[in-house]
Amino acid sequence: MNPETFEQFKEFIETNLGIKIPPSKKIMLESRLAKRLRALKISTYEEYCAYVFGEEGFEREIQQLIDVVTTNETDFFRENHHFEVLTGQVLPELVRAGAEELNVWSVAASTGQEAYTLAMVLEEYSRSVASLKYRILGTDISETVLRVAQTGIYTEHQAAKIPDAYKRKYCLRSKNPEQRTVRFKPEIREKTLFRRLNLMDSAYQIRKKYQIVFCRNVFIYFDRGTQKKVLERIYSHMAPGGYLFMGHSENLGNVQLDFVPVSTAVYRKPPKE
Ligand SMILES: C[S@@+](CC[C@H](N)C(=O)[O-])C[C@H]1O[C@@H](n2cnc3c(N)ncnc32)[C@H](O)[C@@H]1O
Repeated sequence: MNPETFEQFKEFIETNLGIKIPPSKKIMLESRLAKRLRALKISTYEEYCAYVFGEEGFEREIQQLIDVVTTNETDFFRENHHFEVLTGQVLPELVRAGAEELNVWSVAASTGQEAYTLAMVLEEYSRSVASLKYRILGTDISETVLRVAQTGIYTEHQAAKIPDAYKRKYCLRSKNPEQRTVRFKPEIREKTLFRRLNLMDSAYQIRKKYQIVFCRNVFIYFDRGTQKKVLERIYSHMAPGGYLFMGHSENLGNVQLDFVPVSTAVYRKPPKE
């Protein structure tokens, strides 16, 4: 890829997706875009660049470009410490404060494993400790991952981290043994909703205020300035007394918001006086 083409992709991705592309990522970018070149039978990055940023190509190709440059790695019960903090500390505190209905947001939901883990944990808590109504919103910039999330279907391999007891309660095995998939039961699926949202948008089309926000493993791709702007917008969609969970390798940086640290990469927005 010649330097001008690299600059064009870098500029577009950083401005529109927030994902930083330093020169050290050039080889990674090339190998990811190579998939699209092969699929479209295009032989050079320059030709692909002209296509994707041209009028006709932009409409057809932009989602695929987003799909190849985003990293969608996720898992059920990822960074499990957070789900222990949720049941051991956060939910009891919210219930003590009088919460009966919880709005929960999985901010960079990818293929949905985080949102469904939250649904199982909340359902479990609701059945055994304190009755709670809850709704989970999963958002992501990639429509392809959201389509997977919406189905609620996972291979046995993907579902390996779901404890067997939860699988028995909350999942159904495919009737076709050759498929080796599980699907979340309707009572879990109907608590979750998945929608496209680009964290780079200047305002988020979200009306509710969220008591629980999981924003994990997406800030690592953003620079400090982008992280700050995104955090401020997320903060404005949080209910007073709400909790923010970030990835274990992420933190608030130097943002001037009144979040109070609660546990590793868990912060609370102060309740109203
Ligand atoms: C590594 S996954 C994190 C999944 C999950 N939160 C977890 O921790 O397992 C990062 C996700 O962030 C999404 N993402 C990247 N840039 C985004 C943006 N500007 N707006 C919304 N989502 C974005 C990607 O599409 C990807 O699915």
